Amino acid sequence: MSNSHTQDVFTKNNTSPHPAQQREANRFMRSLLSIPVFYKVLIANSFIIFVGATGGTFLASRLNSTPDTPVYLVVFVAVGWLVSVILNFVVLQIAFRPLMDLGKVMSRVQAGERTLRAPLTGTDAQADMLARTFNTMLEAIDEANRLRANQIITAQEQERKRIARELHDETSQVLTSLLISLAILEESINNEEGRQRITETRTLAHQTLRAIRNLSIDLRPSALDDLGLLPALRWYVKEYQQKFPIEVDFQADGFKQRLPAEMETALYRIVQEALTNVAKHSHAHCTTVILREDAEAVYATISDDGQGFDLDQLQKTHGQDRGLGLVGMHERAHLLAGTLTIESTPGVGTTIHVRIPLYTTNATDSEQRKEHVA
Ligand SMILES: Nc1ncnc2c1ncn2[C@@H]1O[C@H](COP(=O)(O)OP(=O)(O)O)[C@@H](O)[C@H]1O
Ligand SMILES: [Mg+2]
Repeated sequence: MSNSHTQDVFTKNNTSPHPAQQREANRFMRSLLSIPVFYKVLIANSFIIFVGATGGTFLASRLNSTPDTPVYLVVFVAVGWLVSVILNFVVLQIAFRPLMDLGKVMSRVQAGERTLRAPLTGTDAQADMLARTFNTMLEAIDEANRLRANQIITAQEQERKRIARELHDETSQVLTSLLISLAILEESINNEEGRQRITETRTLAHQTLRAIRNLSIDLRPSALDDLGLLPALRWYVKEYQQKFPIEVDFQADGFKQRLPAEMETALYRIVQEALTNVAKHSHAHCTTVILREDAEAVYATISDDGQGFDLDQLQKTHGQDRGLGLVGMHERAHLLAGTLTIESTPGVGTTIHVRIPLYTTNATDSEQRKEHVA
């Protein structure tokens, strides 16, 4: 009876210590972990040296009295060495764990997981400072990238606008004058062969004029600035269907007024790039473009029934092998605090979902919207 009681107490003590003791032990562990790496290593090594020195002295004092001294010596040295290696391994593992974790995060970020951030231990102040500095650096790089992307997109858009206007206002005007001159010349010439030549030249000038107009509209359709997103996209879809053997189902729902200019440009360019990709890569027969606006956001969905692609594989492709179209689409959505997701199944098709919020924390957006509406 007394035996079993002892057993009970023993087991109980062993498996669940008193909560206060547990708390004390936790506090002790936390304060041990919060010691800087340098001191952790120093304490561990001091402990090993202490054990080695004490054991060595103890052994030396018994050397003369023991008959099989060499055996003792070998055993002691072997055990001492083993213990010091194990102890060092364990303590260094604990001491360097935050640094190793940080290293792993760094490698993953370098491999492309740009949204990953280094974890904080909450105990090791030095490691946490390193992790915080690394995270701050990543945020700064992201911010700089965002700023650069914004500048590139804005500069590109302005340059396209400038070239489109120049093509329309200058080159087209000159060609139109040329066409009129040729028509007058054609009237005034009696020679049949000469007339024939002029007619051919007029036809050529006509084709060039049409090509320049198309190029100008492709660069920046004036309808986007003058009439808004939906008329510009309807025009684009009509042209697209004439150029490619792909049927486009275009649907728009819930739009009541003009959207802010950057949002219209972003959505136009995203749909344009998505449809260009469908024509270039998908071998699709049909594609659907659905645009919708509600109280919070504007949504766009572009889906095709083409061959699809392996998105994971594409994300692992670095450098110049990877096109910039999808990256640009993401950038345009992110710059307006929106999201863009791509679903693609090889053999089934691709769907792109875009969501751009109407009112961001940026006050200028809503102000611009009011301006447009007015
Ligand atoms: N709708 C689509 N159907 C099939 N593959 C696509 C589609 N959209 C994109 N892709 C694939 O994704 C790749 C990257 O597209 P993108 O970034 O626009 O670059 P690019 O068009 O210059 O090749 C394409 O090369 C293609 O393999
Ligand atoms: Mg592309």
